[in-house]
Amino acid sequence: MKTRKLGNSGLEVSELGLGCMGLSFAYGPTIDHKDAIKLLHAAVERGVTLFDTAEAYGPFTNEELLGEALAPFRQRLVIATKFGFQNGDPIIGVDSHPDTIRKVAEESLKRLKTDYIDLFYQHRVDPKIPIEDVAGTVKDLISEGKVKHFGMSEASVQSIRKAHAVQPVAALQSEYSLWWREPEQEIILTLEELGIGFVPFSPLGRGFLTGAITENTTFDKTDFRNSLPRFSADARKANQAMVDLLSNIAREKQGTPAQIALAWLLAQKPWIVPIPGTTKLHRLEENLGAVKIELTAGELAQIEKAAAEIKIEGARYPEELQKRVGK
Ligand SMILES: NC(=O)c1ccc[n+]([C@@H]2O[C@H](COP(=O)([O-])OP(=O)(O)OC[C@H]3O[C@@H](n4cnc5c(N)ncnc54)[C@H](OP(=O)(O)O)[C@@H]3O)[C@@H](O)[C@H]2O)c1
Repeated sequence: MKTRKLGNSGLEVSELGLGCMGLSFAYGPTIDHKDAIKLLHAAVERGVTLFDTAEAYGPFTNEELLGEALAPFRQRLVIATKFGFQNGDPIIGVDSHPDTIRKVAEESLKRLKTDYIDLFYQHRVDPKIPIEDVAGTVKDLISEGKVKHFGMSEASVQSIRKAHAVQPVAALQSEYSLWWREPEQEIILTLEELGIGFVPFSPLGRGFLTGAITENTTFDKTDFRNSLPRFSADARKANQAMVDLLSNIAREKQGTPAQIALAWLLAQKPWIVPIPGTTKLHRLEENLGAVKIELTAGELAQIEKAAAEIKIEGARYPEELQKRVGK
């Protein structure tokens, strides 16, 4: 697989990474441990070098899973993890106190069975802690060799600029896809100006953009998507128009809607690296196939024009979680 550079950081990764959250967390019952290990190995064999996890996924179990599965290949991989919640639990609230960041780094290193974290993201900005102190703490961890690069997630341009002045930010990880284009307003321009890479999360719209989810889909009661207004049955019905658009382009390009959703992201900037997540080998292969689909300027314009006609319904987060983004 080809590689991409995340901004000016020097961090080079496969053009598609693997989002590992769903292997332990968020989308209903998880798969068997053995199968999760197999999926991670399959991704390594297929050339994926960027693996995305967080203390919060589980909490803790996703990092442990990656530690177990990826230790044999450690040196050729880029492992990204995240700090920033109280006791690692997003339900409790944010916590980026410098002592917490240091503690999480030590514990993540143990769980990941490694002596360095390639990319250490702040999961959400903590309004109680000056962002300069967060960047300064990560800077210290970098000088100690425990962390290689600093990342942020769902941060505002103001926070990105302030943090970047203390410790250069290698990558921002925020949601971006054909049904969530807010980063185009100012985030992407700022990243380009500062030379920061962009790692879009939920690049398949948490599964919706693939066409596998319809208004009739029922999610397991533990599935996080039950709480998202954009996944209400009415919103899913209304938003099907975006899936239809992707399906039409997919037919023309002999691909699948998931592949078009990813190819569209890859076509936006050469320093964008999406991290689709899946628990299934055949979908991993399908998603990685997106790198072979090149959308021409004409096709991108066609998508742009058609997408502008579609009004996406439903907030992407419930109110409580919306308050944590863009800080
Ligand atoms: N920084 C943050 O705050 C944040 C927030 C959310 C996510 N993330 C990161 O971003 C990664 C990716 O995001 P995500 O997992 O939320 O969403 P996503 O990658 O947009 O979609 C994942 C969902 O789509 C399904 N799927 C994947 N490929 C498919 C295909 N080809 N056809 C049909 N369905 C398919 C998966 O189900 P199956 O497993 O059944 O295939 C899963 O339910 C996460 O794993 C995590 O590492 C970060």
